[in-house]
Amino acid sequence: MAARLLTCAFALFATTSPLHAVEVADPNVKVDTSGLATLSGNPASNPYRGNARAADIGRTAFNQACARCHGIDAVNKGQVGPDLTKMDRACRRITDPAVQRLCVEDNDDFFLKSVQQGKVRVGVVHMPAWQDVLSPAAIWTLRTFLETRRGQ
Ligand code: HEC
Repeated sequence: MAARLLTCAFALFATTSPLHAVEVADPNVKVDTSGLATLSGNPASNPYRGNARAADIGRTAFNQACARCHGIDAVNKGQVGPDLTKMDRACRRITDPAVQRLCVEDNDDFFLKSVQQGKVRVGVVHMPAWQDVLSPAAIWTLRTFLETRRGQ
């Protein structure tokens, strides 16, 4: 509750402050992950990889939360954020399947942390932190959706 109020207060501050207006995690984003396996612990790699339902949920969530900076359906048409369909490009060039898996899992961890903590460089928020808005399960649906867009 306190966290919620804080988020609202921050959102209010942010919308009245032109400098920060664009970099706030939208507190109204709601991602319904019911029907997906409940996560045990806090996995550092994607527990929903290849799960079609998770990818569907992730697509809707992505278009609500991420599209304004990373493009609708992750198709980047000059938005400020990088093209997220290319995140695993270097991993795909690895021929050893075990090493390739490690590479993708490393990106999973990077993805989770990037989304939870956002991107702040020398005090400037390039991407807001989503940890108070999106559950880890919701974040993994985003990653699962993006994996269906690889190379497109
Ligand atoms: C306000 C704009 C904005 C929003 C909203 C936003 N991002 Fe970003 N995102 C950025 C920018 C800009 C960067 C690059 C920042 C940097 O590297 O300094 C970035 C970087 C990332 C990265 C790191 C990519 C890499 O290869 O380094 C990931 C992953 C990411 N965003 C995922 C997401 C997801 C998922 C969402 C939705 C929950 C989201 N972003 C919402 C602007 C945004």
